[in-house]
Amino acid sequence: MSSVPPASRLAASWVDNADAWTTAVRSGAIPSRRAGTDAAILQAIAQAPVGPMIDVGCGEGWLTRAVAATGRPVLGVDASAPLIQAARQASPSDAVRFEPATYAELAALGPELGGPFVVAVCNFALLDENLAEALTAIRAALSPSGVLLIQTVHPFTACGNGAYLNAWREETFDAFGGSFPSSMPWYFRTIASWLEELHGAGFVLESITEPMATDGVMPLSLLLRARRSD
Ligand SMILES: C[S@@+](CC[C@H](N)C(=O)[O-])C[C@H]1O[C@@H](n2cnc3c(N)ncnc32)[C@H](O)[C@@H]1O
Repeated sequence: MSSVPPASRLAASWVDNADAWTTAVRSGAIPSRRAGTDAAILQAIAQAPVGPMIDVGCGEGWLTRAVAATGRPVLGVDASAPLIQAARQASPSDAVRFEPATYAELAALGPELGGPFVVAVCNFALLDENLAEALTAIRAALSPSGVLLIQTVHPFTACGNGAYLNAWREETFDAFGGSFPSSMPWYFRTIASWLEELHGAGFVLESITEPMATDGVMPLSLLLRARRSD
């Protein structure tokens, strides 16, 4: 077993896998995204208040670009420098901004980010055990009436044969084809744990959506909408 903490390996994996991830996203190689999770987050954003959005953990930037194309001002931030570079290369327009930042750095950036934002989105981007720092920084970047949208793997679907308990797990990306140089540690959390994290960081849950696969049997994801509790 590696002696490197999972959170450090998680961050490093998004540097190692930047090219493979960019190819997978842009070639439509992730079946659940084609099946409905891309559409689900776009619909949730369309139903959110009008105004600036921050895409936290934007990756290679597909969602940031798609939202900018609707006319909403949007900033994408991500810790992976090569993913931010890929995002910028694909987005020559001034209407889309991408900045490198870890979630820990978001709080320090404060006004430099250009907020407050009325929408913050984390699309499959909250993968760490410790979410308090990220959620607190996101809350501070939101206007008082702002909403937070989190789309994540559905704990029921992701649980598989493992225990329904918070724990680190390992993603190999084998199902996406292509060659990912590094596996990625990610923190499996129960639905109760998601709600505890939100409440602990000063959010109130507004709704839970469970986008379904086309066969109508299993959910593709879990989509949480929360607002600041003040
Ligand atoms: C599964 S990808 C999702 C990317 C994008 N949201 C999308 O929908 O394609 C997870 C992203 O979260 C970013 N990420 C994970 N932990 C992070 C952290 N602590 N700070 C900043 N970015 C982080 C990774 O660099 C990666 O780009």
